[in-house]
Amino acid sequence: MAEKAVGVGLIGLGTIGTGVVKVLAENASVIRERLGFPLRLVRVADLDTQRDRGVDLSGIRFDADALALIDDPAVDIVVELIGGYDVARDLILRSFERRKHVVTANKALLSLHGAEIFEAAARARVDIAFEASVCGGIPILRSMREGLVANRIESVAGIVNGTTNYVLSEMEHTGEDFDAVLARAQALGYAEADPSFDVDGIDAAQKLTLLAAMAFGARLTFKEVPTEGIRGLLPVDFEAADAFGLRIKLLGIARAHRDGAEERIEARVHPTLISKQSMLASVDGAMNAVAVSGNAVGRTLFYGAGAGEMPTASAVAADLVEIAREIRRGGAGRVAPLSYVPEALRERELVPLGERQGRCYLRFTAVDRPGVLAHIAGALGEHGIGIESVIQKGRAEIAEAVAVLMLTHPAREASVRSALEQIDRLPDVTAPTRLIRIEEDL
Ligand code: HSE
Repeated sequence: MAEKAVGVGLIGLGTIGTGVVKVLAENASVIRERLGFPLRLVRVADLDTQRDRGVDLSGIRFDADALALIDDPAVDIVVELIGGYDVARDLILRSFERRKHVVTANKALLSLHGAEIFEAAARARVDIAFEASVCGGIPILRSMREGLVANRIESVAGIVNGTTNYVLSEMEHTGEDFDAVLARAQALGYAEADPSFDVDGIDAAQKLTLLAAMAFGARLTFKEVPTEGIRGLLPVDFEAADAFGLRIKLLGIARAHRDGAEERIEARVHPTLISKQSMLASVDGAMNAVAVSGNAVGRTLFYGAGAGEMPTASAVAADLVEIAREIRRGGAGRVAPLSYVPEALRERELVPLGERQGRCYLRFTAVDRPGVLAHIAGALGEHGIGIESVIQKGRAEIAEAVAVLMLTHPAREASVRSALEQIDRLPDVTAPTRLIRIEEDL
């Protein structure tokens, strides 16, 4: 066995960074047996050098100097785990300039400035790997880049945010309201530093952007992805979903539309109703799952912990092992990080949400007066929208009003939206109607 180690420098000793230190130490022997040589953490940089993280850093240089870490000749691979945009971007680009490979978990940066970062890596002929940025411990990016590489991907859809899946699962099981459950998710440490990134769907949109790039070679930023979070969902929505045989999940959905001359991409994040029988419906708590359909493989489902210290550290360490192997083989810098070679990545037209055709759940809030339902049904009928099922509930949570909970037949979203504009102007309708899309084939 060759003895010389590949050296790793870690910038950012927070939760995930501490997990990386643990995985590399605790699993050093199995990693070495698989690589044939050691992977050694040689240097760590963090602004806070005082806090005790409960890990043994003896023999590892630890200071606050990230630039010196990048420049250190003993460091072959830089791990960026500080998150955020500007400083992280500068550190990554500097690493490339110094011909260092980079492992990062920074979904925010890559889903906004990915084009610049990936081009810079290609120019410098170094690797960038980011498995930990999407669904923590699930090796979904590697699976798409390698295991599914021979497929035309038809769709990728999943539960890619643990915090919101926890909140939705708890609201469903306990009947509690949103704020109470979110506070618990924060206490458990699933949520982002700013939990609005979770609850407003931004974190999921960032992950979906990277998945869509992997799946379709789409150059996309997360800001282009229509995104709707889970705020405003009420216990009554969960009761109705249950009665209709459905379950509410925050899904990221990306599909290829190959019906025209140019392939178009559908990408969206929003609360979604899916059948209780669907495999995604059984994903509970903070777990994640991603379903990928390919034209050769058919349907696949990947499940696992989407967040947390050790699962995410497992993904970071896997990237380190892969790059270390390539360094030794002399192949580093040749793996296309987004599965497509850079010149094959291109901007795609996004399918507007208004073109979506499917069933919807609608929660109307109205005064309990004869004729209200007739007015609602009339407006839907004028727009060609058929009603499949209706439940009415008078509830204290909707003051002085009743909730009319309805499933429509499949309809074009643009038509549903114009019907709702008309309905929400009715004098008896006292709050904006909530629409939740129903997906049949997930
Ligand atoms: N806040 C994220 C989640 C962490 O809840 O899934 C992992 O990206």
